[in-house]
Amino acid sequence: MRVLVAGGAGYIGSHTARRLAAAGHDVVLYDDLSRGHRAVAEILGTPLVAAPLADRATLLATLREHRIDTVMHFAAYAYVGESTASPLLYYDNNVATTIGVLRSMQEAGVRRFVFSSTCATYGDPERVPITEDAPQHPVSPYGWSKLMVERVLRDHLASDPSFCFAALRYFNACGCAMDGSLGEDHDPETHLIPSLLQAVLGLRGELVVFGTDYPTPDGTNIRDYVHVDDLADAHVAAMLRLAPGESLFCNLGTGRGFSVREILAAAERVTGRPVPVRYGERRAGDAVALFADPARAKALLGWEAKHRDPDAIIASAWRWMQAHPNGYARVRPLR
Ligand SMILES: NC(=O)c1ccc[n+]([C@@H]2O[C@H](COP(=O)([O-])OP(=O)(O)OC[C@H]3O[C@@H](n4cnc5c(N)ncnc54)[C@H](O)[C@@H]3O)[C@@H](O)[C@H]2O)c1
Repeated sequence: MRVLVAGGAGYIGSHTARRLAAAGHDVVLYDDLSRGHRAVAEILGTPLVAAPLADRATLLATLREHRIDTVMHFAAYAYVGESTASPLLYYDNNVATTIGVLRSMQEAGVRRFVFSSTCATYGDPERVPITEDAPQHPVSPYGWSKLMVERVLRDHLASDPSFCFAALRYFNACGCAMDGSLGEDHDPETHLIPSLLQAVLGLRGELVVFGTDYPTPDGTNIRDYVHVDDLADAHVAAMLRLAPGESLFCNLGTGRGFSVREILAAAERVTGRPVPVRYGERRAGDAVALFADPARAKALLGWEAKHRDPDAIIASAWRWMQAHPNGYARVRPLR
């Protein structure tokens, strides 16, 4: 297939682009580099169109010139706190821009779409593990922006049976390419594993753990940590599975939850060093426990997470961070 990876210079998009290329697909990265890294294109050896998706003329020309037949749409802003402070920014970039992408696809005759949704669409779920049929009550503009796109996709498909899409609801993406070639480089970094590894390396102050009095065995939140290469594999499987008129909604998680304290202990085992930690108050909007029922992804995509051991997942992130303490800044950028 010829695949446009929108947001392909970012974390999950870059790992997926690599998997797509390895499976023999033609890949074009499309990214405005607002939160991504030009160096990714150099590492992957793939073309990069460095433009905003809202630049419809460039997007349309790219879809036509490369005769794209699938768009994988990773491009979005993804900080829950920022979305609460600047909801219009989020609804604009995550919802309005996506509608523009769908219109450009329609104009160019591109009919297959794989969308990065999130477990944040479930909000604070009534029960875990979470199935795809669980009520979706987001608790942040970020979560709402993703749920709104799911709605748009359903309605668009109902009006155009030649279209097809997968909405993949990721749990906590983590880890880095096993060979150390790609990694996670967000600024600011808010995800638990890279944040605690930065604290171990003294690249930031102590890690703040938000809340120790949750109704969990050790009092800290529980999350489902799914390796980024596993997410990448699920995207390839979803793309190949889709037929005209079809939609897929799948959780992508391991099905197992780990508490913050369990992840800290694993990180100390992997690094052999203590993680500098400060225990703080609960943070508004944080769910107690989020972990997936991944049965549907297995049934429909034949996919399940291969990386299940938190120590191995953390080790992949640790290798990357030790080699790239300044992220992609240490890689020579393209001219
Ligand atoms: N990281 C996670 O744990 C997680 C969990 C659930 C869902 N998601 C979703 O997965 C997707 C990828 O997440 P990530 O962690 O790789 O994020 P990321 O910020 O690393 O990558 C997103 C990329 O999109 C680009 N981008 C953003 N807006 C753009 C625009 N208007 N035009 C062109 N490029 C644009 C950014 O420059 C960046 O390179 C996002 O949609 C996110 O909401 C992530």
